[in-house]
Amino acid sequence: MSAQSAANRRILVLHGPNLNLLGIREPGVYGSTTLDGINTALAALARELGVELKTVQSNSEGALVDAIQQALGECQGILINPAAYTHTSVAIRDAVAATALPTVEVHLSNIHAREAFRAHSYLAPVAVGQICGFGPESYFLGLRALVSVLEK
Ligand code: DQA
Repeated sequence: MSAQSAANRRILVLHGPNLNLLGIREPGVYGSTTLDGINTALAALARELGVELKTVQSNSEGALVDAIQQALGECQGILINPAAYTHTSVAIRDAVAATALPTVEVHLSNIHAREAFRAHSYLAPVAVGQICGFGPESYFLGLRALVSVLEK
């Protein structure tokens, strides 16, 4: 894949609050892989799939909304783990809906098998789909799914 065609398929990867603490954060739930580890493996997969990634982590809802808005005209799709904002943020959902960019929601844990409040996602209705419960693999499956959507 040439650099130019990879740039034509640029994907925004967004990590929400507390994901910067992966590796030390509740390892029984989220595993021992750090965010850097996930980003490095995602970058390798992106090269294989011929896409370019722009990666942002923020603990702030507004910064995540800003990053989603900036994706307009810059990126062709969004891979997002909104973390706790999944269950609270109408603003992130509205930003994704506003861009109308194909968006895949991912979670390390199976949010449907945990506390009841985690089973609801404000984002899911405006996402192409949701992948959860596979640890870091959720991101890799999500990237593959998003690229296949972009190829259609
Ligand atoms: C999470 C699940 C959320 O419920 C939680 O608030 C997170 C991480 C996950 O990846 O499993 O911070 O999105």
